Amino acid sequence: MDKGTVGVVGSGTMGRGIAQVAAGVGYDVILNDISEDLVCRAVEHVDRDLARLVGKGKMEDAARGELLSHIGTSTDLGDMAEADIVVEAIFEDLEAKKQVFARLDEVCSEEVVLGSNSSSLSILDMAMVTKRPESVVGIHFFNPVPLMKGVELVCTITTSFKTLETARRFCASLGKETWVAKDAPGFLSTRLLIPYLLDAMRLLESAFATKEDIDACCVLSFNYPMGPLTLSDLIGLDVLLNIADSMYASFKDPKFAAPILLEKKVKAGQLGRKTGKGFYDYS
Ligand SMILES: NC(=O)c1ccc[n+]([C@@H]2O[C@H](COP(=O)([O-])OP(=O)(O)OC[C@H]3O[C@@H](n4cnc5c(N)ncnc54)[C@H](O)[C@@H]3O)[C@@H](O)[C@H]2O)c1
Repeated sequence: MDKGTVGVVGSGTMGRGIAQVAAGVGYDVILNDISEDLVCRAVEHVDRDLARLVGKGKMEDAARGELLSHIGTSTDLGDMAEADIVVEAIFEDLEAKKQVFARLDEVCSEEVVLGSNSSSLSILDMAMVTKRPESVVGIHFFNPVPLMKGVELVCTITTSFKTLETARRFCASLGKETWVAKDAPGFLSTRLLIPYLLDAMRLLESAFATKEDIDACCVLSFNYPMGPLTLSDLIGLDVLLNIADSMYASFKDPKFAAPILLEKKVKAGQLGRKTGKGFYDYS
């Protein structure tokens, strides 16, 4: 199963998920982070997730060992010289991402596609710090990576067809289906999602319906796996407020304006599941 080598920069929630999925189909993965401690913790996290699958009878213990043997760790971006494709998944900060892309451009061989897992930032800004903007593309996985079927490919005005095709084939080899979005704030997925979630909050804010009825309506009538307020709690209300504010700043469209209720919840530290309380109480 020698498929080649995938470089993953950033070993947090998304990076370790991408590493797990790529190693699971036989890629050798170089998982990079800023410290040995962080990257080792990421591998331990993957191991724990796999152990859970083994415990549930969904994976053989031998397959778990095989998968882990495909993940190597790194704290030096120079190691990405070995990679056939790189996915950057560091935190959502454009300047930090630009530094990573500039370094990847120095160390990676010419034909390597450089992908970013950013969920909102300009892929073109990352591309333009390299000498190969045609090889830079958004490869936007969703959380949790092993479970989510789709990946959004984000094309800038400089991304070549060959790069897009390589990214699409890479995702297909991971068992993922893709769609293509333009490089604009929120791409396609977030641009569709945010107004939907904010509208649900506005309906709750105006006491038009209860949170339970809003969620039940979307689950039972649209067959969505969860309602918008439950989903907002899962994503994190602080994360949503940030995205809404930055999309509103870009488009000046009221459909992206954060409801006062969302601002108040964030101010009160009611950020959703992660703090035990958001629209719902998880304590
Ligand atoms: N979490 C989600 O639900 C989600 C979903 C889709 C996309 N994204 C995007 O994926 C990216 C990563 O998000 P996350 O939730 O995994 O973040 P995270 O905070 O869990 O992990 C980020 C990791 O990057 C590391 N890092 C920071 N600077 C680095 C550098 N210079 N070199 C190497 N590693 C570095 C950090 O130490 C950390 O381990 C972001 O762009 C985010 O917007 C996140």
